[in-house]
Amino acid sequence: MTERLEIIRPDDWHVHLRDGVMLETVVNFTAHQFARAIVMPNLAPPITTVEAGRAYRERIKSVVRGELNFEPLMTCYLTDGIDPEEIRNGYAEGVFTAAKLYPAHATTNSAHGVTDVKNIYPALKVMQGLGMPLLVHGEVTHSDVDIFDREAVFIEQVLIPLMKDFPALKIVFEHITTADAADFVFEGPDTLGATVTPHHLEFNRNAIFQGGIRPHYYCLPIAKREKHRLALRRVVTSGSKKFFLGTDSAPHAVGAKEAACGCAGLFNAPCALQSYLKTFDEEGALDKFEAFASINGPNFYGLPTNTETIILEKSPVRIPEAILVDDTHVVPFHAGEAMAWNLG
Ligand code: DOR
Ligand code: ZN
Repeated sequence: MTERLEIIRPDDWHVHLRDGVMLETVVNFTAHQFARAIVMPNLAPPITTVEAGRAYRERIKSVVRGELNFEPLMTCYLTDGIDPEEIRNGYAEGVFTAAKLYPAHATTNSAHGVTDVKNIYPALKVMQGLGMPLLVHGEVTHSDVDIFDREAVFIEQVLIPLMKDFPALKIVFEHITTADAADFVFEGPDTLGATVTPHHLEFNRNAIFQGGIRPHYYCLPIAKREKHRLALRRVVTSGSKKFFLGTDSAPHAVGAKEAACGCAGLFNAPCALQSYLKTFDEEGALDKFEAFASINGPNFYGLPTNTETIILEKSPVRIPEAILVDDTHVVPFHAGEAMAWNLG
């Protein structure tokens, strides 16, 4: 049985770092686990300009603890009115690594998102030419589509036509949650990749309703049936280079989660690698972990892999019950639990 792994230092290809006091606290959990992270732009207001992206990057860097070597990779939030030149300049100036498509009202702070993907075709044309990845929150938002079907319907209604119109555009189907998405990406062209969160590999939708309503298991896209979780576990451990690590760590203050209308999002940054390792270990696929965590992502983005390595050891570590943020706290995934893998 493997008790120790040495792998290239991993990156997180999808994270919410927030701003202000929340940023100050949560960023160091991510920076402790990962060398780089693709930072989501869904602040209020969202990051839609090069100037805002640059300023946010500086705020992030200014609060990362000195001993941690961490590079935030910034993204531009696409709106109906986005100026394609802003995208071009942001990419050329090394501020934006990718741009993010939130269908309007799909999730937290997506009110400024895209109402019809045709509205961003000029931006997508520029991105295709540059080789700049499009990151998609892949859910339709019509009220007549069941919440558990939104991802599968997105593939048919939005993604397939989009890929037809932009065959060379690099697309990351983010935080996939269904067998439909897993199969679609697995069989798709090399321009299509996907991130998978640690939590969607660990639990299915029953967890949200286990003995009562459990707001800390609520995120978007919402967890699906067991057969979907099993399909995700199959593809991430398959050795396919199209799947890579993206935690979707999305902290909210406890009062915003434990509420009559609680926010979507799990804060998994304190235990992300431990959680992924649990899955790969259970699947007997620890030999596939390095590619998923440290190689497939940079290869897809056309970035170098990290040069340092980290040691992961099987020795128990306890995840905190709560992380204090100002006068409130955030409850992490696996709060108070012991996990088997530790960052040596
Ligand atoms: O659960 C989620 N939380 N899903 C998202 O897409 C956004 C995120 C957030 O920003 O809280
Ligand atoms: Zn997200």
